[in-house]
Amino acid sequence: MQQRRRPATPFLWGASTAAHQVEGNNLASDWWAREGRQAGMARSGDAVDSYHRYDEDMRLLAAAGLNAYRFSIEWARIEPVRGEFSRAELAHYRRMIDTAESLGLEPVVTLHHFTTPAWFAEAGGWYAADAVERFCAYVERATSILGDVRFVCTINEPNMLAMMSSLARAAAEGRLDEWQSPTVEGGRPTVFPAGDEATGRLLIAAHHAARDIVRARTNAAVGWTVANTAPEALPGAAGRLAAEQWIREDLYLEASRDDDFVGVQSYSTMTVGPDGVLPTPYSPTNTLTGVAYRPDALGIAVRHTTQVTGGMPILVTENGIATPDDSLRIDYTDAALRGLFAAQVDGADVLGYLHWSLLDNYEWGHWDPTFGLVAVDHETFERRPKPSLSWLGEVAKNDAAVQRKGTDE
Ligand code: BGC
Repeated sequence: MQQRRRPATPFLWGASTAAHQVEGNNLASDWWAREGRQAGMARSGDAVDSYHRYDEDMRLLAAAGLNAYRFSIEWARIEPVRGEFSRAELAHYRRMIDTAESLGLEPVVTLHHFTTPAWFAEAGGWYAADAVERFCAYVERATSILGDVRFVCTINEPNMLAMMSSLARAAAEGRLDEWQSPTVEGGRPTVFPAGDEATGRLLIAAHHAARDIVRARTNAAVGWTVANTAPEALPGAAGRLAAEQWIREDLYLEASRDDDFVGVQSYSTMTVGPDGVLPTPYSPTNTLTGVAYRPDALGIAVRHTTQVTGGMPILVTENGIATPDDSLRIDYTDAALRGLFAAQVDGADVLGYLHWSLLDNYEWGHWDPTFGLVAVDHETFERRPKPSLSWLGEVAKNDAAVQRKGTDE
C-alpha cells in the first residue's frame, strides 16, 4: 500500500449536496430519462437551480462560519455522448472549485453520486463489459480540473448503488415493475434488498481503478462514501445481523482499507430479526423518509467503520434528518455530534463533519423529505436559511476557537 495522503486541514465543518439533486435539468442522465418514464415519481426539473446559483449557495455556507462544501460533478454533463467530453462543463465545475476556494471552503468533490449518462445505462450500466473502462475514461478527464483539490470521493454509497443497479436490471428484465426510490417508498414500510455481491465487486473494481487515476493525476486524498446501516439484532439474530451487515456495508468498508479516508454516511439504524432486516414500524417520531429517529446512529457507524477498516481516517460525508421541524434538525444534529465526538475520544480518527444537506433538494423521486439547512422557494429559487444553518456555523466556530486555543497553549 502506498502511504496514505492526509491533507493538512483543520477539522472540516460543512454540508453536502449532489449534482442531480440540486442543479436542475440534468438532461443527459439516466435519472432524467427514468423520471419521465415512471408513474408516481416526481421529476427533478429545475431542481433548485444550483447549477446557476452555486455561488450564492456557497456564500451562505461560508457566511455561517462553515469551512467545507461537498458537491458532485456530473458525468452526464461532462460526457453527454459516449466519448464526447465537454470542455465547457469541465470549466463550469472548475469555477465551482475556484469559488469554494475563494470563499475559504474546502471543496470535497464526488465523482459519481447515483447518476450516470443515459448512454452508459442504456449500454448495460455497471454490467456492461467495458463499464469500468468507460468510468475511468470519465475520471481521467475529470482529474484535469482536480489538480489542487484535496479531497475526492469516487463513488457515493456503492452499497446503495449496488442495490439500485440490481433492481434496475431486474426491472429491465421484466422481473420487477414497480419503481423504488433509494430512500423513500411512498411512506410504506419497505425493506430494500441488499445489492448482490457480484454487483458490489464490479463497483469495487471501478472504485479502485478510479482511485489509482486520482492518485496518479492529483494530490488529493481519495476515498469513497459508504451508507452505514448501524444494525441492531433482535434476540437470536446475531448471526443474521453479521451476514446482513457484511453484504450491505462491510464488503464496501473492507474494500476501502487502502484508500486515504472513508466517508461515513449515517441517518438511522436498522433492525435485524432471525429471518432478515425488518421494516421500520410506523411511529409518529419516524422521519419523513420513514426511518426511526436515531441520532445515535452516527456514533455507532463511526465506531463500526473504525473497527472494520482498522482505524482509517473517517470523514462524515453525510448525516442529517428529513423533517419539516428545524428545531428537531438541531436536536438531531446536536445528539449525533455528541455521539461522533464520544467515538473520537475513544480513538476514531475523524477528519470532519459534513451535514446532509445544504439545501432542501430533490430526494430521488420526491420533494417532501426536506433535509436542508436552507429552504428554497420552488418558483423563485429564493434561498431561505433556516436557524439550523447558523446553529451549525456557531458549533463550527466554537470548535475552531477551541482548536486554536489548543495550539496556542
Ligand atoms: C444519499 C443522498 C440522499 C440522502 C438522504 C443518501 O442515501 O447519498 O443522495 O439524498 O441519503 O436520503
